[in-house]
Amino acid sequence: MRTSSSNQDGSLLTEIDHIAIAVNDLEAAIEYYRDTFGCEVDHREVVERDGVEEALLKVADSYVQLLTPTRDDSPVAKYLEKNGEGIHHVGYRVDDCAAALERVKAAGHRVIDEEPRPGSRGTTVAFVHPKTAFGTLIELVEE
Ligand code: CO
Repeated sequence: MRTSSSNQDGSLLTEIDHIAIAVNDLEAAIEYYRDTFGCEVDHREVVERDGVEEALLKVADSYVQLLTPTRDDSPVAKYLEKNGEGIHHVGYRVDDCAAALERVKAAGHRVIDEEPRPGSRGTTVAFVHPKTAFGTLIELVEE
């Protein structure tokens, strides 16, 4: 949707925060990025609430986030079962997660999180539903 603030200065998205890649074997994926591209793990965290373990590899000001399920009922486990390994979601950095989420809802688009919630690294996040986002699961990330 075009609005009066759809120009560069008015964009709510300030940076690509991370590209999340769902993998079956986190150690193997970390090793691949280290051995092939020389990337080191910058941050590692188990997010119990989401049933995932993640490893963040820094690429310039953004991250590649390698994501693996920690339990069978994790959404990422279901994703892997259905789609196999690959890009799971794109995280866009925003200044104000609540405001960005409100904008999505006000435009009539579907969201997964009705309210912002804690993410990894002490961030505040909200997921936007892929159904009305052209097939991409979007995560709004406020640092
Ligand atoms: Co993410």
